[in-house]
Order: sequence, then C-alpha cells, then structure tokens
Amino acid sequence: SPGYKNVKQIMKERLPEKVFNLLKKIGEIADREKINAYVIGGFVRDLIIGRRNLDVDIVVEGDAPSFAKKVAKELNGKLHSFEKFKTATVTLPDGFRIDFASARTEIYRAPGALPEVDTAPLKKDLFRRDFTINTLAIKINGKEFGKLIDFFNGLKDIKEKKIRVLHALSFVEDPTRILRALRFAVRYRFDLGKHTEKLLRIAVKKNLFRTVEGKRVYLELKHIFEEENPLRIVNRMKEYGILKSISSGIIWDKRKKDFFERIRKVINWHKLTFGNRKKVNYPIIYFAAFLEGIHGKELEKLLKDFSIPEKEVDLIKNLIYRGKQLLKTLEKEKLKNSEIYNLLKSEPDELTLYIAAKTDKEKLRLKLLDFLGEWKEMKLAITGRDLKETGLKPGPVFKKILKTLKDKVIDGEIDNVYDELKTEAQKQIETIHSKN
Ligand code: CTP
Repeated sequence: SPGYKNVKQIMKERLPEKVFNLLKKIGEIADREKINAYVIGGFVRDLIIGRRNLDVDIVVEGDAPSFAKKVAKELNGKLHSFEKFKTATVTLPDGFRIDFASARTEIYRAPGALPEVDTAPLKKDLFRRDFTINTLAIKINGKEFGKLIDFFNGLKDIKEKKIRVLHALSFVEDPTRILRALRFAVRYRFDLGKHTEKLLRIAVKKNLFRTVEGKRVYLELKHIFEEENPLRIVNRMKEYGILKSISSGIIWDKRKKDFFERIRKVINWHKLTFGNRKKVNYPIIYFAAFLEGIHGKELEKLLKDFSIPEKEVDLIKNLIYRGKQLLKTLEKEKLKNSEIYNLLKSEPDELTLYIAAKTDKEKLRLKLLDFLGEWKEMKLAITGRDLKETGLKPGPVFKKILKTLKDKVIDGEIDNVYDELKTEAQKQIETIHSKN
C-alpha cells in the first residue's frame, strides 16, 4: 500500500528557495485547473538521497500540454509542446526548464466500466519505469503539497541501498537498463537486489544487449562517461560480461584501467582550473579511451552503428590516432617547452587531456597540464602596438617577433613583463636589420 509520508519539510530544507516556490506555484495552478500534479523520478530520488538534482519532471493526471500552457502563461515562460507524446517543456525567463508529461490515462474506457481510482494513471505510469528508486512521486497540489507517493517501495530500497527492478521483464523490455542499473549502483554505492542481479545476468546471457539500437547504446555509454567514476562502472560491465556484447575488440586490462583513472584526475584538474569557462566535451575523452585498441575496420563499423554525430566521430578519431602519434614524439624526444606549446596550441583541449592521461610519464603529464593551464592561456605583456612605437613597420615580422618572445617566456628565458619583453624585442629587431 502506498506510503503517505510528507516530505514538505525536506523539500524546504534541501531545495533552493526558488525551486521550492516554483513547485508550490505550479501546485496552485494545478488546483485551479482541477488537475493532479506530481513531481517525479530522478528529482525525488535525489531529493531523498541528498544529491543535487534540479531536473524538474512534472506528471499530471490529464493533458500535459494544455496544463503546461497555463503554467507558461502564468510564469512568463516559453512553451514547447509535443502533442504526439502529450509532453511539454516550459522554459522560464531565467532559463530554468520544467518538463511536463501526461500520466497515461485510459482513453477508451468501456462504457459502464468501473471508474479509475484517484491515482491509477500515475501508478500505471510509474510502473513502466526501470527501478523502484525512480518511482517516487511527490504531490504538489496545494492542500497535499509534499505528500510522498511510494507505490513500489522505493523509499525502503533507498534506505536499504538497493537497485531493484519492478518486475521480471524489466531488462527484457529495455536492455539499456542493464547499463543504467550498474550506473546507479556505482553512483550511489548501492547494491543490486538479489533477484534483480539474477535477472540482469539472465538478460546478459541471452545477449539481449545486442538487440539494442546502436544509438541507444551510445547514449547510455555517454551517460556512464558523464559520471564521476566511469572506471568503476566499466569494471562492473566487464564482470557481468557486457563489454563483449558491445564489441569483441574492447580492451579492458590494467593499462586501460590506469588510463581511465588518470583521465578522471586530469578532468578534475581541468574543471577546477577552468570551471565552466571552457566548453570541453569531457565524456568523449573516456569514450575514445574506451574504444582505443579496437582495430580500424571494427572501429569504423562501431562508430557507424552508434550513429554518432560526425563532429564527435572526428574528435574521437583525432584523440585516438593523432593522440598516439603525438605521444610517440612527446615521450621519445626531449622537447623544449615552446616546442610542446607549438605542437599542441591549435589542438582541442580534449586531445591534450587525452594524452596527458594516456602517458605513464608523470613529468610529461605535468608539462602538458602546464601547457593547458598556463602557456595556452598566456597573454604577452607586449603587443603589436608597442612594437609599432619602436618605429618598426607593421608586417609579418611583427608576428614573428611576438612568437619568438612568447617562446622565450615559455622556455623561461625571459619574464612576461613589459620592460624585459621590450628589450628583447629591440634585440630581435636589430638582428633583423643587420640581416637586411
Ligand atoms: N527510465 C526508464 N528506462 C530507461 C530510461 C529511463 O524507466 N531506459 C525512467 C527512469 O525511471 C527515470 C526516468 O525515466 O527516472 C527519467 O530518465 P532519465 O532522465 O534518463 O534518468 P534520471 O533518473 O533522471 O537519471 P539521471 O540522474 O542520470 O539523469
């Protein structure tokens, strides 16, 4: 029987005030429209667990697009409706997004059939979901605001730290849930329920995973590589025998695991250093590492099966092939800092991070991070205009002088201060004049 715990207080304590008030407001609109509204899924799961998650999914027992229209109007938001799916999205003026969906209602009810009880549509909707921890809902209508609805023991499973499916056919209906189960297990440090684990093993054994459309496999893998610790998830995939149903060529040995662990470290360093200032596709670094070692033709086939956007395919290949080539040069030859700089300055950060993680040479790794954190960011304390003031005619020679100055700064031969740079520039200019 559904539990009726009230979580209003928890919402008040844990949610940003803005989000709390927003849910209250939507609940008031629902009252006015005489419609039941709930916030559901990952948002509720993470609220209870105490993990930040502001993906607001609202389910209404009724028509979501027309309800969302009312919300959009009232909150000055932009409405996007998908009539075919009975879903809608409202984007508020500050960019905050709210998704709306209709709980599946019985539209063609036989005349004279018993009326549905109050929460039947919601329950049916939640029953289609993957795991019990994802089936929690919170009613947001005014009077009942904060009422936790728990049809399938989701709260108990959160407390017991268990990932459990709702029924025996869950993995058969949607084999991507095999990967989702492992992802949630690692993220929350939960175990699989005993029965759930058995069902998962059966699904893997039956090779159900191979029947999934490549595009969906790719999206799930991407979700895995967006997590804090993909290494531990791939370890579990290996244990359960899932890697070989993705591709027989995937290598998962000590070296690859170390590679993954170092990717995690360099990504964390990069995030700490740059925050959100740089748009970097972090998951793709893991993805390229994951695929590295698969032979040419097989790799081409896999990338095609996954229907990965062309731009990402190019980046993946760039990381794998150019990465290998660059690392050969970098590990073998003792390059000057400026030479490393000139080798990498036009390449995407993803590539530098990839090779910084791939090498097991600690000194080289630190150099590569210096390149990203300092050299690549550096602005010279002298500009073309300063050179002009020395009486030199602007032209290609400016670029050459400035490049030489930058190289010297990176190599530690001079400091990046105006006077030193100016003196050095003058020296360069004299050399040029004496040559002519
Ligand atoms: N879902 C499902 N089967 C899938 C994918 C999703 O049943 N193969 C359900 C889950 O119950 C989930 C909901 O759809 O709660 C929304 O999915 P998604 O946004 O992918 O997941 P979240 O639970 O929000 O997880 P995350 O924190 O990773 O975003």
